[in-house]
Amino acid sequence: MASSNNRITCICVVALLSLLCQATSPAFGAFVATSNAQFVLNGSPFLFNGFNSYWMMDVAIDPNQRCKISNVFHDASSAGLTVCRTWAFSDGGSRALQTSPGVYNETTFQALDFVISEAGKHGIKLILSLVNNYNDYGGKAQYVQWARNAGVSVSSDDDFYTNPTLKEYYKNHVKRVLTRINTVTKIAYKDDVTIMAWELMNEPRCQADYSGRTVNGWVQEMATYTKSIDSQHLLEIGMEGFYGDSVPDRKQFNPGYQVGTDFISNNLIKEIDFATIHAYPDVWLSGQGEEAQLAFVERWATSHWTDSRMILKKPLVFAEFGKSEKDPGFSLSGRDSFLSNVYSNIYNSARSGGTMGGGLVWQLLGEGMNSYNDGYEIVLSQSPSTAGVIEAQSQKMTQLIHSFGSPHHVTTKNVAVLTSKHGHHHRKIKTGK
Ligand SMILES: *[C@@H]1O[C@H](CO)[C@@H](O)[C@H](O)[C@H]1NC(C)=O
Repeated sequence: MASSNNRITCICVVALLSLLCQATSPAFGAFVATSNAQFVLNGSPFLFNGFNSYWMMDVAIDPNQRCKISNVFHDASSAGLTVCRTWAFSDGGSRALQTSPGVYNETTFQALDFVISEAGKHGIKLILSLVNNYNDYGGKAQYVQWARNAGVSVSSDDDFYTNPTLKEYYKNHVKRVLTRINTVTKIAYKDDVTIMAWELMNEPRCQADYSGRTVNGWVQEMATYTKSIDSQHLLEIGMEGFYGDSVPDRKQFNPGYQVGTDFISNNLIKEIDFATIHAYPDVWLSGQGEEAQLAFVERWATSHWTDSRMILKKPLVFAEFGKSEKDPGFSLSGRDSFLSNVYSNIYNSARSGGTMGGGLVWQLLGEGMNSYNDGYEIVLSQSPSTAGVIEAQSQKMTQLIHSFGSPHHVTTKNVAVLTSKHGHHHRKIKTGK
């Protein structure tokens, strides 16, 4: 694991930060909600710039490393970032949260308690994901293995979406996390305004059924269950945005294949409050040039933004995007211009009125955390040019809040824009059930 030779410095910095961070803005103390297909916080539009840091809970298991969480929240907050997406799962393995079905490690849970408490102190809202599609930190493969160990007959990892035992395991996890009483703040997770939203799964995919119907059934059941425990928080799926069978003409925007999700039908589910997209053109269109990749992202963002306004009538978050230094031809300036490009797209959509809430760059890391490197990492204190790009976007989104912030703008101008854009677009959608 990461070295701890900067332990003493860390402890001092943490002490200082907790003094500096006591006061958070009054607007923070409310749940993020949606209204007219926009995010709202305390009656004002909530537009944000944010980040992913998947590793938060894992790092916080060791009390001597917790300064790294505080430092990243501090640097993120200084760069104007107000939303962080991170994992509220770690299934099986030596540092698990859930060591076996229904059995939880209290030390790891207290690490998550700390992360949530610390985010709140820094005025940062969290999007917490509840399971992984992939094997990292266990994921659906671990759930399937648990069922197999218990003598349940399962054939593939995609049984996760349909097998009754596996669905019970997952629901139990949802319940355990949402009803957890934070040992630091004494607030139940389901009552904590620091949490902006729950995410059902990081990047659900299903090879057993590319149409999107199997995932649709699972999302419907799990969304209903999640809302039955916690109706205060927003809920999203965790999807990358791939189109499925319900609207065939949208498939032209996929990067040449489907993954078993259906952006339209899955996000139409009533209990899902907002839609998400991810974009990794370097992976999805590897081998194609920079220009083709940028053009893809442009079309990807625009088509989903259009769908969120015209069909879903729900907010949209660009929840993952980044550029890996492992790509051939990677350069810092290339990464900065890729981020600028995505940020302009997000800003322009948000400014045009409605649905686009913000973006979450993948991913922020702290200093001395090389074991969590994945090629996409950005250490704000060590990448001034990238930090500048991120900070500029935060400022632009904040300015938008202010320009939309007066009641006059929200009730008249924006609604008028939305209405005129929606007016003549009615279409029938198959819900994939
Ligand atoms: C819980 O997790 C901690 C930290 O990884 C570990 O040291 C401890 O042994 C675990 N406890 C159990 C009962 O597995």
